[in-house]
Amino acid sequence: MSGETLNDLFLAGLKEMYYIENELFDALDELATEVDHGDLQNAFEEHRSETKDHVDRLESVFDHIGVAAEQKQLYALDGLIEDHDEFTDENPEQEVLNLFDKAAAEKSEHLEIAAYGNLAFMADKLGHDEAADLLEENLREEENALDELKSISEQYDVESVPTQS
Ligand SMILES: [Fe+2]
Ligand SMILES: [Fe+2]
Repeated sequence: MSGETLNDLFLAGLKEMYYIENELFDALDELATEVDHGDLQNAFEEHRSETKDHVDRLESVFDHIGVAAEQKQLYALDGLIEDHDEFTDENPEQEVLNLFDKAAAEKSEHLEIAAYGNLAFMADKLGHDEAADLLEENLREEENALDELKSISEQYDVESVPTQS
């Protein structure tokens, strides 16, 4: 049964998060491969390795609450991935693709930050203290990853990007 209690909402969100992290682990590899901007490439590669830790921490959260780890599809994330694939199918200029991928990654961080903030809050309310701490740890790394991506904008050499066709 779902949608009746706070616990239902928490479990559904946790399963969606497990889906998001597993999908992003693959997506970040694709992003790192297709950009040719050094700082962006590093940011994607580093965050991919953190994403592996996020998956591991989520498995610990499932352990702590005594529920089998399971993924639940989240259409919001599928939409981001589909938008990316549609964009790359149009063979964009490399410099434009770099910026598209930077924005796409920032959108996924915002999604993760919103989801983890709410999951940590619910875990706390449900008395799952250790789970709440693990979720907060992932949340902090998502916030840092977003800051890192945003800081790349400050040094971005926009001269190299075509401004109109
Ligand atoms: Fe993550
Ligand atoms: Fe992330």
